[in-house]
Amino acid sequence: CGIIGYIGERSACQVIVKGLKRLEYRGYDSVGIVTEENGKLHIKKGAGRIDELAEKLGLLEMPGKRGIGHTRWATHGVPNDVNAHPQTDCSGKIALVHNGIIENYGEIKEELLAKGHRFESDTDTEVIAHLIEEELKSSESFEEAMRKALLKLKGSFALGIIYTEEPDRLYFVRNESPLVLGIGEGENFAASDVPAFLEYTNRAVFLDDGEYAVITKDSHVVKKLSTGEVIDKPVYEVEWTLEMAEKAGYPHFMLKEIYEQPRAIRDAIHGNAGVIEDVAKEIAKYDKIFFVAMGTSYHAALVGKYLLQRLAKKVPIVEEASEFRYEMEDLIDENTLVIAITQSGETADTLAAMKLAKARGAKVLAIVNVVGSMATRIADLTLYTHAGPEIGVAATKTYTTQLTVLTMLATALARVLGTASEEYLNELESKLKEVPELVEKVLKHDGALRELAEELKEKRDFFYIGRSIGVPTALEGALKLKEISYIHAEGLSAGELKHGPLALLENGVPVVAIAPSGKTFDKMVSNIEESKARGAYIIALGDNESLKRVSDVLIEMPPMDELLTPIVYVVPLQILAYHLAVLRGNDPDKPRNLAKSVTVE
Ligand code: G6P
Repeated sequence: CGIIGYIGERSACQVIVKGLKRLEYRGYDSVGIVTEENGKLHIKKGAGRIDELAEKLGLLEMPGKRGIGHTRWATHGVPNDVNAHPQTDCSGKIALVHNGIIENYGEIKEELLAKGHRFESDTDTEVIAHLIEEELKSSESFEEAMRKALLKLKGSFALGIIYTEEPDRLYFVRNESPLVLGIGEGENFAASDVPAFLEYTNRAVFLDDGEYAVITKDSHVVKKLSTGEVIDKPVYEVEWTLEMAEKAGYPHFMLKEIYEQPRAIRDAIHGNAGVIEDVAKEIAKYDKIFFVAMGTSYHAALVGKYLLQRLAKKVPIVEEASEFRYEMEDLIDENTLVIAITQSGETADTLAAMKLAKARGAKVLAIVNVVGSMATRIADLTLYTHAGPEIGVAATKTYTTQLTVLTMLATALARVLGTASEEYLNELESKLKEVPELVEKVLKHDGALRELAEELKEKRDFFYIGRSIGVPTALEGALKLKEISYIHAEGLSAGELKHGPLALLENGVPVVAIAPSGKTFDKMVSNIEESKARGAYIIALGDNESLKRVSDVLIEMPPMDELLTPIVYVVPLQILAYHLAVLRGNDPDKPRNLAKSVTVE
């Protein structure tokens, strides 16, 4: 999850170990370094913490003045010594490190196996080294081979590449995964984040998607991956403190993670495209389906229920894992499928529910963010959300990626079962691919949401209402607000308003209405009007002009398929909660009394 490269006159390993420590906050499970001296690569790597490994493997005693280091946060292949980066080709002349996910690595690996390549690890990364080696056979230069190979890859990647035959340079590539160059005097750096080299230089060149850089100790050139054409890139003087740099300039991790969502959703799509169909086939026969989860993951499970109902015509039961254990015990058998959703893969109640389901012979599918976590070891099948490490306690990007995976799963299941038309399923799939852009659009409301938060910061209660697939969004909006702003909030289905909560509405009480176009829109408008008649202050989220008339504030959303609204509509609610927390003087990254991972029952 972190890359740092160095070329210059210093001991490369010293610079790299320090840089990796500066990237530690990003989360990782393994570490590795490659350095080069006299045409020979030196590689040391393993699973564990940087300090431990520095001692155990002697990371600070590696020869050479150029090299690349990596902290890995597993996405394919469990965290262990072999799967740690760098990965190399057959000749051992090419070594590379990688952040991101290669979607089509399975196909490429098969082709390469047929051509005689032998692989040591389970990673998608190793495939890239071999592919470059293969392309080298028919290329004039290493650079050409690298370009040709990388153009065959689908997915997201940031890469650092070293080749023994070219002793004066290093290559760095960016495609949907961050990478920045650090420009020094007689030395150059590249890293996934500025703090890795900020101690040595504050002059930075930010690579964009589809670009690569060739750095020597005295020069840097940035080129287009598609054509090899040189691009003129500005050099920025970064004025961040180290702490700001860790958050990529954002004041809090939570805000950074909210803004990472377009990238995270893309990775969730890339990372599951090749596996979702097989999983759908394996679970298609089950009719007794339970979702188990806690907290925000529980809200994802609720969305999962609507998706399975609408697309796959299955009616799952959603239970909080802590309740499932006591209530459902006798109802689980070998004809049961349990889908556990957990970001961390370590939530005690969720693990206990999974173990119980396993003991009763049920099939267990886990949807998890952390590769190799306990949940993945208990489950029969695992789908990863590929959100990357989440540092803020309140879940944001792990939630929207859970929803992405659930949408893919429900679509794949509907295809296997023939419960929706092929035409509609294809359309939904292509619309899902556009969701990252929709989220980018919605992120532009940030300024307006901050102003709104300023206006609402003294309020004591909030209500969030939605209908159908919008109900979990209402619940999640309320949860975000409670968690970090400490304002009381309730999320509910709008139909329930009249059965109690309406009594609590008085002048100026904010009601946040999730009101996308779709089959419940008209009813939502009625509920908004009911609330307004009691003096509520209406904040509506929707794409229909008529909402302007009934709301005090309209957060305009782009039009989209109703089934995709949970992923996009939650984003303004995250941002609103974030600003309210900050304006009220709270640290949104570390809400009082709460933990990122609740490992007690
Ligand atoms: C804690 C976190 C929440 C999270 C919940 C479930 O309460 O603060 O953000 O949603 O645990 O965590 P999991 O890792 O199982 O998704």
